[in-house]
Amino acid sequence: MRPDDLPRFRQSPTDPAFMADPYPAYERLRALGPVAFWEELGKPVLCGHAEVSAALRDRRFGREVTHLASREALGWDPIPERLAPFYAFEAHSLLEREPPVHTRLRKLVNRAFTSRAVAGLGPWIEGLAESLIDEFEPETELMERFATPIPLTVIADLLGAPVEAGPQMLEWSHDMVGMYQAGRDRAAEDRAVAATEAFSAFMRELIAQRRRRPGEALIDALIAAEDPSAEGGARLSEPELVTTCILLLNAGHEATVHAIGNAVRLVVEGGLDRAAFGRAGGERAVDECLRLDPPLHLFSRYALGEVEVAGLRLKLGEEVGLLLAAANRDPDVFADPARADFAREGADRHVSLGAGLHFCVGAPLARLEMRAALAVLFRRWPELRLAGPPRRSGRWHFHGHEALRIAS
Ligand code: HEM
Repeated sequence: MRPDDLPRFRQSPTDPAFMADPYPAYERLRALGPVAFWEELGKPVLCGHAEVSAALRDRRFGREVTHLASREALGWDPIPERLAPFYAFEAHSLLEREPPVHTRLRKLVNRAFTSRAVAGLGPWIEGLAESLIDEFEPETELMERFATPIPLTVIADLLGAPVEAGPQMLEWSHDMVGMYQAGRDRAAEDRAVAATEAFSAFMRELIAQRRRRPGEALIDALIAAEDPSAEGGARLSEPELVTTCILLLNAGHEATVHAIGNAVRLVVEGGLDRAAFGRAGGERAVDECLRLDPPLHLFSRYALGEVEVAGLRLKLGEEVGLLLAAANRDPDVFADPARADFAREGADRHVSLGAGLHFCVGAPLARLEMRAALAVLFRRWPELRLAGPPRRSGRWHFHGHEALRIAS
């Protein structure tokens, strides 16, 4: 079947009711079969667990395709001059590249984030959570005072970026991810370009400082990195270094912020076991939260040639959307999928952290941060309740909250 022959699915991704609770729409989509054409996104999407998880691992799909064919040959419009700075930045992002570039960049950051490398960070993250809770008022804004500062402080500190620059980096990061927003407008594009330029200048300055006075953070390791397998033992180029640091800062906080917020809401509204995160096996509760209400719902892939998936035939450069959040609720894999069950066997089969080549490099850190934050929060505030209706963020590409007021 070609994309035009697929069942059609209609749903505005910017509809506030959809953004607040997209799951009923995903069930409508699932009823159409494992693959359908999402009109408003203009591409086919997969929603079954088997299909999504196979596509994530399928090397016939990639995050980029212009390494195989030019935009012109693909029939794509040229990149407008005004957006060039954003795409030049992205051209060095391991998230947007395929081997061999991906392999080289990923190898350089992999080691810093393995389970073993991050295992010792638990007590530090718990201490950070404790100190934030010390400052809580009886009614507190959880996103601003807890869910955001934990991941932001952790990744800034690990990377070696000044934690005081957190609010500024947060703003740049928000503006940059605006490029992935469904139905982005000119103003969002302009903000993304301006933020890319400002963040890159900030990062170049930081790198220059660290070259003069190296420290012991990840940025110093990246500056010093010499990849023996690269031709001539080349170091990371300066633009690669800038992009990698910014990618880690952006990817390293925003998803985790919303994963923490979403989990708190799930636990409180669902009357779930609050002590689960602090007990042995607490990872399972974290994974069940990640399965049920992940912060990132959709990633796309390009066909790197003629590819057939779930009966859909794609040509080189055609895109398919992978609906992670729908795959996580596939009844063929997860019994009674909409129900939260902290004892669920195989909760970690969710695809909220991806799979395959681009599997989240920060997964062990993200899980650790979530577990530490949630364990401490529910231990310190065991009677925690929501103070007023939660406010979902008006974005679908980051499914989370703008505000989540809590009371003790
Ligand atoms: C709960 C929090 C997180 C979620 C849900 C999440 C989710 C994801 C997903 C789904 C992907 C794969 C995208 C794709 O296949 O196209 C990914 C990749 C990535 N994540 Fe995470 N992530 C989280 C936290 C983090 C953290 C803490 C870091 C910091 C190191 C991080 C850094 C990255 C990077 C660098 C990539 C690109 C990997 C590659 O392309 O090889 N993420 N993440």
